[in-house]
Amino acid sequence: MKPILGTCYYPEHWSEETWQEDAKKMVELGLRLVRIGEFSWSKLEPSPGNYSWGWLDRAIDVLGAHGLQVVLGTPSATPPRWMIDKYPNMLAYDVDGNPRKFGSRRHYCFSHAEYREEAAFMAEKMAERYSGNAHVHSWQLDNEYGCHDTILSYSPVAKAAFCEWLERKYRRIEALNEAWGNVFWSMDYGDFHEIDLPNLTVTEPNPSHVIDFRRFSSDQVALFNKVQAEAVRKHCDKPLIHNYMGRITEFDHYKVGDDLDIASWDSYPLGFLVDRCGASLEWQQRFERQGDPDLQALHHDLYREVGRGRWWVMEQQPGPVNWAPYNPAPLPGMVRLWTLEAVAHEAEAVCYFRWRQAPFAQEQMHAGLLRPDSKESATYPEIELVAQELSDLGELEVEQADIALIFDYESCWAWETQPQAQGFDAFALVFEFYRGLRRLGLTVDIVRPDRNDFDGYKLVLAPGLFDCTDQLKAKLKSCDALKLIGPRTGSRDSDFRIPNPLPPAIDGLDCTVSYVETFPPRSARAIAGDGAIHTWLEFIETTETVLMNLEDGAPILVGDHDIKYLAGWPDAEGMVSVLLKVAELAGLPTQKLPEGVRKRQIKSHEFIFNHNSFAVEFNGERIPSAGVVINRR
Ligand code: GAL
Repeated sequence: MKPILGTCYYPEHWSEETWQEDAKKMVELGLRLVRIGEFSWSKLEPSPGNYSWGWLDRAIDVLGAHGLQVVLGTPSATPPRWMIDKYPNMLAYDVDGNPRKFGSRRHYCFSHAEYREEAAFMAEKMAERYSGNAHVHSWQLDNEYGCHDTILSYSPVAKAAFCEWLERKYRRIEALNEAWGNVFWSMDYGDFHEIDLPNLTVTEPNPSHVIDFRRFSSDQVALFNKVQAEAVRKHCDKPLIHNYMGRITEFDHYKVGDDLDIASWDSYPLGFLVDRCGASLEWQQRFERQGDPDLQALHHDLYREVGRGRWWVMEQQPGPVNWAPYNPAPLPGMVRLWTLEAVAHEAEAVCYFRWRQAPFAQEQMHAGLLRPDSKESATYPEIELVAQELSDLGELEVEQADIALIFDYESCWAWETQPQAQGFDAFALVFEFYRGLRRLGLTVDIVRPDRNDFDGYKLVLAPGLFDCTDQLKAKLKSCDALKLIGPRTGSRDSDFRIPNPLPPAIDGLDCTVSYVETFPPRSARAIAGDGAIHTWLEFIETTETVLMNLEDGAPILVGDHDIKYLAGWPDAEGMVSVLLKVAELAGLPTQKLPEGVRKRQIKSHEFIFNHNSFAVEFNGERIPSAGVVINRR
């Protein structure tokens, strides 16, 4: 593979005279892709049924004539004002029951059937017009499903659609009452239409009710996306893409990805450090201008799985953004590092958001590659450099990693619904495993729980899985890898009930979680050796060999054969001890890396990244701050 670069461009924001100059400059900079159109509905259809394609035709012509390949966005993230007059009940409602009004973006409820059809119709119109256009490389459907907290809608149309979804799932109301355990507080229903959305209840709603609402809400996103995908595919066989977000877990991205060809995501490392990775103040200060050293990488690996091997960064932060509480500028070298890091994780393309900084509306303070006065921004030379480096790098060869780490969206919903310890978060748990593996210099694949098999992996990790299905257990059993299961894995069935036999109930592993203790922050139980267990500790009955235990003797890592069980959530030090042990048992060589240094290997190359704001010595080499070393293997 040979990765390419691109940018996000809004021709409708600039006079037509500037387009030529912009396109020329993009190509000179080494860019090949340009994404356009995704917010332009009011320009494309100023009033119902009244289309205005001329400007978009000309924009694509100009960009294409300079040799750029266009990624064309469908505009359903920004329904125009007239759409709200046409369908006043299309707005989403927040958890407090208030409509989320027009005046920004993403103002629609995924359950509104007529809007879903309008969005698909618009996508189809665009596909009809541009399917044969040689400059159109691919399509982006909508923009960032879930951004601005827009998956869960408590609107009247969502309620009606939820009742229908439940009726399709359970068929008989008695079956629903039984599955949910509605006898518990006299919550039985006589008819599907009596069931409301699980907000505004006096106290915690029934978790089975909540998990079904979360599944329903996720299915509505997949349906919205599928309908658009089908509309475009009627006319066009070019790749379909969506640009996902960082740490949005409210819908099952794997299911959405199944209807698309390429996954992409929008990477804003400095904003995410503050609001998306639970970093301590000290950590935030250390990586203030670099971003967390593992968060971007985790998403790269996740979206590679969502895209079944094909993935891009659709929007890469190129300077300070406007939306975080504070918005530092990236340390010189970081935009290059982020770009090469995406490449090391097998991205086919990296596009910078945005070409020129907008001097109007919401994002005036968001940097682009050009300043609002069209002069080059501070990062421009870095992009020039990295474009050249990529072309010098030649072909990259990739291969499956040795380690698979399972990440599951339902588990995020489940543990948000009944955390048992404030802040028990499935994403955070998987993230800490991922960080621990990377601290040991290991290359990881993030994988979905329902993948066909785990063949070829040497180590498979399944932490915090809500419902560990029989199929998954069978696939894990039949693969040759060493398996690390737990904590909390398989502790509910799909109806959100405690299973019998008690978890983890894995064939060939004599281990039963007898009870669980959870702790507030700063409380912990010391592990004999290094580190401690925080947040979550399970007391297990087992006859398996004890590989690690607490100082008080309680077993936390057990297993005689190739399935090991971990009975708690280790802190950073404890995580490294656990992972060192299982990596060794799996025959994987490890190397403890200096903090902030990370490594990734693909078949043809090894990449080493220094995320620190100072130089480090590593393997006898001095790596400057924000430096990258690339070795051929
Ligand atoms: C993304 C979004 C872009 C722009 C950008 C600003 O979430 O897709 O349209 O708003 O953030 O950082």
